[in-house]
Amino acid sequence: MNKIDINNCTILITGVAGFIGGALALRLITSTKARIIGIDNLNDYYDVRLKEYRLDVIREIDVNHRFVFKKLDIVDRDAVYDLFNSYKPDIVVHLAAQAGVRYSIENPYVYIQNNIVGFFNIIDACRKMIEMNAPVRHFLFASSSSVYGNNEKIPYLESDNTDHPVSLYAATKKADEVIGYSYAQLYGIPMTGMRFFTVYGPVGRPDMAYYKFTEELVKGKNVKLYNQGKNKRDFTYIDDVVDAIEKIMQKTPVVDRNGATYDIYNIGSNHPLETVEFVKILSEALKEHRVLDEDFVVDDSIVLCDAVVGDVDVTYADTERLYECFGIKPKHKIDDGLKRFAEWYFAYRNQ
Ligand SMILES: NC(=O)c1ccc[n+]([C@@H]2O[C@H](COP(=O)([O-])OP(=O)(O)OC[C@H]3O[C@@H](n4cnc5c(N)ncnc54)[C@H](O)[C@@H]3O)[C@@H](O)[C@H]2O)c1
Repeated sequence: MNKIDINNCTILITGVAGFIGGALALRLITSTKARIIGIDNLNDYYDVRLKEYRLDVIREIDVNHRFVFKKLDIVDRDAVYDLFNSYKPDIVVHLAAQAGVRYSIENPYVYIQNNIVGFFNIIDACRKMIEMNAPVRHFLFASSSSVYGNNEKIPYLESDNTDHPVSLYAATKKADEVIGYSYAQLYGIPMTGMRFFTVYGPVGRPDMAYYKFTEELVKGKNVKLYNQGKNKRDFTYIDDVVDAIEKIMQKTPVVDRNGATYDIYNIGSNHPLETVEFVKILSEALKEHRVLDEDFVVDDSIVLCDAVVGDVDVTYADTERLYECFGIKPKHKIDDGLKRFAEWYFAYRNQ
């Protein structure tokens, strides 16, 4: 295990205009002296103005001009190689992907392109940098809690079986883990996968349930809760996720028995909550921050529906390994995190 002083590093973040990428770039600019190269293709899977807004916020705080943004599609192999050649990143945090479980049912090809071909282009560029004598010192990538499928044993441990994905999205993330492992083993690229569990918070993703529920409640519409509102999610606050990524990037994995410098961690909150309960806490936060009227009664807007294809019943992270290896535990409670989301949402909507 090697320690890396990130202050002297060039850090490449893919998907930097995204929810997690944007928050990570902000953190690294404020808490380190690293140079940040951010790439994103700014696709319109959700409102591009939100992606532009995230980039504007980063540029605003980047008073020392340590942030460079390039609009780039990771599916374009030559463009990816050129980028690596130009900036020779020390650390790569690969977050760019087509996210979303339900969208993968309708649009499978997009997932193969972005999550498998795109992922491969990034790790193959890491391989090329070895030939160029400028090896990437640590490659981190986003996997997902969805790799656990509908495993009955909870909480999910990193060593649990992940061979039974119930969506193509999950299958692409599992594929990234094994393709990544092969490259870590073959070329000695230090590599860490991060299985994120339902990340939420300010400047979040409009396609995710909490954001959609908010928009629906604001418009006076009903919110549909699948599986009768009994699905449980391990909602994880964005700052806890960024804390984890920042810590993980500073320590490369130890070599395993196959000679691979590879590891994987759950990044979750370890506190699963039923969606019906979640919506109630969300509505209280929205009332407190004037997004909803004080006398709003959320129960009148909840419609309980059957389960949908691709959704898992429970996500529940065992976060002990993250604590053992990096000494961190998720800090933010759901009501506090949702209040911060509501506060941001009010300001964003009224800007
Ligand atoms: N947010 C969560 O709850 C969650 C949970 C599990 C896993 N993840 C994973 O974490 C990563 C980041 O998620 P997020 O919530 O920030 O999603 P996001 O959609 O907000 O960010 C992803 C970014 O990647 C960009 N992108 C997509 N395809 C690209 C391509 N071909 N070339 C360049 N850029 C491209 C998008 O424009 C977007 O800005 C993703 O890999 C996602 O699958 C997220």
